Amino acid sequence: MPARDTPKKRVAILRAELESHNYQYYVLDQPVVSDAEYDALLRELSALELRHPRLADPTSPTQRVGAPPSEKFASAHHHSRMLSLSNAFDATEFGDFYRRICDQLDVSTVELVAETKLDGLAINLVYEDGILTRAATRGDGTTGEDVTVNVRTVRSVPLRLRDRRPPALIEIRGEIYMEKAGFEALNRRQERAGEKTFANPRNAAAGGLRQLDSRITASRPLTLCCYGIGHFEGGRVPVTQVEILARLRDSGLRVSPATQVVEGIDACLDYYATIRASRASLPYEIDGVVYKVNSLEQQRVLGTIARAPRWAVAFKYPPDERITRVVDIEVQVGRTGALTPVARLEPIFVGGVTVTNATLHNADEIRRKDVRVGDTVVVRRAGDVIPEVVRVVLEKRPANTQPYKIPDSVPGQATARLVQEIIHFASRRATDVEGLGAKLIEQLVTQGLVASPADLYLLDVETLAALERMGEKSAENLVGALEKSKQTTLSRLIYALGIPEVGDATADNLVAAFGTLEGIRQASAEALEAIADIGPVVAARVTDWFCQKANSDVIEALQERGFTWSEEAPGGTDVRGLENLTFVLTGALESMARDQARDRLRTLGARVASSVSKKTDVVVAGTDAGSKADKAATLGIAIIDEKTFLEVLEDPSRITRWIDGPDPKS
Ligand code: IVH
Repeated sequence: MPARDTPKKRVAILRAELESHNYQYYVLDQPVVSDAEYDALLRELSALELRHPRLADPTSPTQRVGAPPSEKFASAHHHSRMLSLSNAFDATEFGDFYRRICDQLDVSTVELVAETKLDGLAINLVYEDGILTRAATRGDGTTGEDVTVNVRTVRSVPLRLRDRRPPALIEIRGEIYMEKAGFEALNRRQERAGEKTFANPRNAAAGGLRQLDSRITASRPLTLCCYGIGHFEGGRVPVTQVEILARLRDSGLRVSPATQVVEGIDACLDYYATIRASRASLPYEIDGVVYKVNSLEQQRVLGTIARAPRWAVAFKYPPDERITRVVDIEVQVGRTGALTPVARLEPIFVGGVTVTNATLHNADEIRRKDVRVGDTVVVRRAGDVIPEVVRVVLEKRPANTQPYKIPDSVPGQATARLVQEIIHFASRRATDVEGLGAKLIEQLVTQGLVASPADLYLLDVETLAALERMGEKSAENLVGALEKSKQTTLSRLIYALGIPEVGDATADNLVAAFGTLEGIRQASAEALEAIADIGPVVAARVTDWFCQKANSDVIEALQERGFTWSEEAPGGTDVRGLENLTFVLTGALESMARDQARDRLRTLGARVASSVSKKTDVVVAGTDAGSKADKAATLGIAIIDEKTFLEVLEDPSRITRWIDGPDPKS
C-alpha cells in the first residue's frame, strides 16, 4: 500500500479500479489489465477489508465469492410481471406476426429491434438507489426464486450501477447463461473430479444458478446479458427499446452485441439469416432471434395477452440435426396392431438430450427413406417431439447392406397389441384408472387374466394381490380405481375404445354431433364426414370398427359389468354457453386436473382440441404453458389464464369479452 493513502482511501481506489476493470472486461469487452493484475488488485482489497472490518461493504468487488449453503430459496415477488415470448417457426409465421402488428397499429411498416435469443435462464435484477438488492428467477412470471447470493458471484452482474444519479428502483431483465468455452472447460473439470457432466450449456447454467451453496455458483463460468427493464421508479422514462438497451449499457450492464434496428419483413429475414450463418461461431448458444417493437408507445397500444407481449416474437432456428449410425431396426406393436419400425441408434446428443431410438413411422416411410441397418443417418429432435430419422447419408453406406423389410407379423404380436389396447383404455384421457400401469397390464395379459378391456372389471382383490409387486393394499386400491372408472363420459368411452384414428378431439366431435353411443354406432359414413375434422378415412375407420362383432361384444360386456356413461341428446335446446367454440388446454392448472377441465368445457358445449390451429378460439394457459400458448399468441388467438378460465366456467357468457374484445386485461 502506498504510504500516502489511508486504508479508507486505498480501499475506495481499489474498488473503483476493480469496478472499472469489470466494466471494461464484461461490458465493453476490452480488458485493459491482465487476469493476474486484476487478481492482484482483488487480493490487495480483500486483505485490507479483512484488516479493517469497518470498511466492509456488500457492494465491494470482493463480495462475489459466495456464502455458505442455505436450506432452500425464498420466493421473490416481481414488481412487474416477467413475460415470455411467443414463437414463430418459419417465415410465414413471422410474416403473420409482422402483418398483425402493422394491422393493429394501422401502419404499413414498423420499426423493430432485433436481438439474439440467448439460451439460458431469465433473471430479474432489482437495483435500489443503484445497488443490487435482489436477483430472482422468472418462476411463474409473478413470483420466482430469490437467488441473490448466487447472482452476486456472477462477475458481469454489477453490484452497483454506474449511473451518477441512479433511479430509486429499477428491475433489469436479462439472461444468465454459460458461454460454450466455459461450458466445455467446466465439463472437463467435472470429469476429472469424477463429478457428473452437463448435457448442454443451458443445463449447466441452470445447475449453477440454482445451487444452494453459492460458493459452487461462484466456481461456474456464468455470465449475464440484459435485454429489458421491468418496474422502474425515478429518472427519465425511456421511449424506445433502443434507448433501454443504451441505458443498460451506460449503467454498466452487458447487452447483446448483435442488436440491430430493422424495418420491414425483408430486413428482419436478413437479420435472421445473418445471425444464423454466424451461429456456430458465436461464443454462446442461441435458439433464435427476438424482434421487439421499438417504440414503447406502440408496445403499449399492442398490449399483452396472458403471458406474452403482442409486440414481440421469438423467431426460432430449426431443430438440431446430428449424424449417427443405425445399429438395428426393430418393430413395435401399437394398440391397433399396427407395426411401427424403430431405429436403434448409436447414442447421439441432439436437441439437448441423448437419443438412442428414432421412429421410422411405417413401411412407406422406411421405403421412401431407404433406411438400412448399418446406415449413417441424420437425426433430428425438436423440443418435446419424438426424435426422427431425417435421411440417410448414402455416401457412408457400408457394402452389403440390405433394404429393410418390415415383417408382416412379429412373434407375440396379438399379446403385445392387447397390452397396448388396455394401456390405452386405462390411460388418463380415457377411463383414467389410477394405479394400472404398463407392467401390471403386461402381467394381466400374459397370465391370461384379461383378454379385453371389459375383463378388467372382473378382477378381484385376491387375484390382483397374487401378482408380482402387488400387495393386499395396492390390489384394494386398484379395485377401487376400477370401480370409480366405471362412471365416465361418452367422450372418454369413445376415446378409450381405441377406434383407429379417433383421438380425444375426434371422440369429442362425435359425441357433440350424435349425442349417444347408439347414434355414433349407426351413423353412416356420409353423416360422419359431415362433421368437422372427419374425412373419408376416419369415417371408414369408425364404421368398420362398429361393424365388427368383437367390438360390440366388448361394449356389451362393459355395460353388463356396470360400466355407465352420461349421454345427451345432440344439439339439445338447452343453452350451455360455449357451443361452437374450440378450446385448447396447455400448462398445469392449479385448481383441477387437465382432464377435469376438459370435461367441464365439454359439458358447456365447447370442443376441446389437442393442438392449436387457426380454428382454435381460446387457449387456456396454466403455469409453464409451452409452445401451444406461443403458437396461439403468434396466431393472435385469445389466451386466458386460470383465473379467467374459472370465471368462464362459472359464467360462460363472459367468454365474449375475450373472443370479441381483443385486449384481455388481466
Ligand atoms: S424478451 C417481454 N429478449 O427467452 C419479453 N427474452 O422465450 C420478455 N431471452 O424468458 C423476454 N434472449 O429468458 C427477451 N433478447 C431477448 C432474449 C430473451 C433470451 C429468453 C428470456 C425469456 C425467454 C422467452
